[in-house]
Amino acid sequence: MSLAIREVSKRFAGITALDRVSLDVPNGTFVCFLGPSGCGKTTLLRVIAGLETADEGQIRLNGTDLIRTPAKDRNFGIVFQSYSLFPNMSAARNVAYGLECRRWPKADIGPRVDAMLRLVHLAEHAQKFPAQLSGGQQQRVALARAMAPDPGLLLLDEPLSALDAKVREELRVEIRAVQRRLGITTIMVTHDQEEALAMGDLVVVMSRGVIEQAGAPRELYDNPATPFVASFIGGMNILDVTPGPDGRPLFAEVPLALAGGPSPSAVSLGLRPEQVVLGGPDERGENIVPGRIADVAFLGNLTRVSIVTAAGGAPLVAELHGRSRVPAAGEAVSLHLPADALRVLA
Ligand SMILES: Nc1ncnc2c1ncn2[C@@H]1O[C@H](COP(=O)(O)OP(=O)(O)OP(=O)(O)O)[C@@H](O)[C@H]1O
Ligand SMILES: [Mg+2]
Repeated sequence: MSLAIREVSKRFAGITALDRVSLDVPNGTFVCFLGPSGCGKTTLLRVIAGLETADEGQIRLNGTDLIRTPAKDRNFGIVFQSYSLFPNMSAARNVAYGLECRRWPKADIGPRVDAMLRLVHLAEHAQKFPAQLSGGQQQRVALARAMAPDPGLLLLDEPLSALDAKVREELRVEIRAVQRRLGITTIMVTHDQEEALAMGDLVVVMSRGVIEQAGAPRELYDNPATPFVASFIGGMNILDVTPGPDGRPLFAEVPLALAGGPSPSAVSLGLRPEQVVLGGPDERGENIVPGRIADVAFLGNLTRVSIVTAAGGAPLVAELHGRSRVPAAGEAVSLHLPADALRVLA
């Protein structure tokens, strides 16, 4: 059983926020909606939550038609970016409130509140008011409040974006641990690709109201379907190629072999910076392109090198790890573009 989104569209006065979006989410999955500002992430989350109505399409959860279920009857837990706690209630009262609204038996509420606050490591802060808690602690309370009624779905809209980097990383790990333990199907909106890759079982990359690609983090990184996904997730060199006489694409007049065989229709190839291998200036052959070092940036754990080639356009980027020899700016080199690392982009 699962969440099934079918052909959902939503327009706001001339803007198409969602354009026939379809997605399947198996139960227990942690999903991240990832994409640039304005691509429709929040709108899709709000349609699922019932806070916004779709113009077209269906959403079913475990076979139940959600479009016909009012938001208050969906029993979903929701956490937003800004702290939405009741300022005049203690942490414990904030968590209890949702249970009272759902008419939980009085005797069950106390133990449930205690258990949820323990789960988010706030047991000793139960009696504090939101103003007496740090941002990270407030988001933990919001999370405990959202999860307390045992929701069918947990919906998180950029819950970590107002927090500083260190707290954000701690909470990533915590949220994932709690989610796994409770097995709640969770959708989290983020525009931070690192956060999406680190947390998601399934990452849904969105752009301009459509899903560009949905897949496991590794799958998206290794096999991005479009140039947009390729460059939004991790860095990617985009090689504009022309068809060669024997069906192999040409880059800077060098024929490129591809792992999947010739691809005469390829116009863009993707290559991750860590897959580019630098060689000496006189090396020639298939998949070896002469170039010149334009810039070298030492970043501690790696060195990022920009290389210009005869193909023109933006310099290619190579990332060198460890203690490999780093060439100097201006040096002539060769670029080895491994056949099994080149990706054909649609
Ligand atoms: N209530 C609304 N009225 C009019 N337009 C809206 C409304 N809500 C969203 N939009 C528009 O719909 C599009 C998608 O907005 P949405 O909030 O879903 O984007 P988002 O991906 O969550 O962006 P961000 O990362 O900035 O939060 C945007 O162009 C936005 O301006
Ligand atoms: Mg948003």
